[in-house]
Amino acid sequence: MEKPHSPSRAEIEYAASLLRAGRLVAFPTETVYGLGANALDELAVRRIFEAKSRPNTSPIIVHVSSVEMAQTVVAEWPETAQLLAQKFWPGPLTLVLKKQPAISSIVTAGLDTVGVRMPSHPVALALIEAAQLPVAAPSANRFTQLSPTTAAHVGEGLGNLIDHILDGGPCTVGIESTVLSLAEGAQIVLRPGGVSRSQIAEVIGPVQVRTEAADEAHPAPGMHPRHYSPRTKLLLVRDGNVPREGIGGYVQLRTPPEQGVREVVEMPRDAAGYAADLYRVLHDLDARGYDWIAVEVPEELAEWEAVRDRLRRAADK
Ligand code: TXA
Ligand code: MG
Repeated sequence: MEKPHSPSRAEIEYAASLLRAGRLVAFPTETVYGLGANALDELAVRRIFEAKSRPNTSPIIVHVSSVEMAQTVVAEWPETAQLLAQKFWPGPLTLVLKKQPAISSIVTAGLDTVGVRMPSHPVALALIEAAQLPVAAPSANRFTQLSPTTAAHVGEGLGNLIDHILDGGPCTVGIESTVLSLAEGAQIVLRPGGVSRSQIAEVIGPVQVRTEAADEAHPAPGMHPRHYSPRTKLLLVRDGNVPREGIGGYVQLRTPPEQGVREVVEMPRDAAGYAADLYRVLHDLDARGYDWIAVEVPEELAEWEAVRDRLRRAADK
């Protein structure tokens, strides 16, 4: 384990003052690092899109430090939201609900709903508390690049474009939050993530999933199929059958590679452990300049749903 980091109180206060002044602060959450701005300041939110080169069709999640703050952001707070917040907040679950007018359509990419989540990382909570503001924050990476799970990843991708990076050590969940729409009575998972569909169903009953096919029929803002990608060609493989040409790295779950590869990374065999390491491993392999990265696909089991989703999106088609 790397040594846990913890910014000082003074540094948190400084970062909060930057947010209040309309500037950009990257901060750790339990899922991935976020690139934060005052969610109530349109100009500040525009800076996020610029720094990430993000198309303005992609809505941004608003981060809060309490249910009360969430209720200032949304125009409805159904019983289902209350039950899920009680069970999973703070944590990796984003709830999509009708938005309040105070949340600009810049944040929501023109939608009349907003994604809201209370992260569990103590540095994220301390920052939002200190700023006394809802904080709009996408993952702190360039659009379409791998999400950052360390402060160093953020620095490499966006270092010269943002005002401050709070270092809270490596993210423990490692992949992005589950995005669940509850807007107008819906119960639809828009993006699988840290909280599983069955965990949600235990609290509010059956939930639908937006399938890839539905994605194409209704290209909803932000759901770009190729996302979370390394620069190196990424291939999903079975039975250790890595390419014969070129040099590369192999991300192994159970099966060793059939023939020689330059580098093998053995992953934890449980889905949560795997997720926690995934982006860091891909960042590391991406830095080597290989011809390819081959990743052994995990089994089609429910607990691997979020990891499989990210691998599918990262893979070259
Ligand atoms: O774990 C996370 O969610 C991280 C950390 C920083 O909180 N954030 C994150 O943000 O992954 P981003 O911008 O990379 O992804 C946000 C996702 C996108 O898939 C977007 O389409 C969806 O949330 N989303 C946000 N607001 C939405 C809305 N109003 N309706 C539908 N989807 C929404
Ligand atoms: Mg992202």
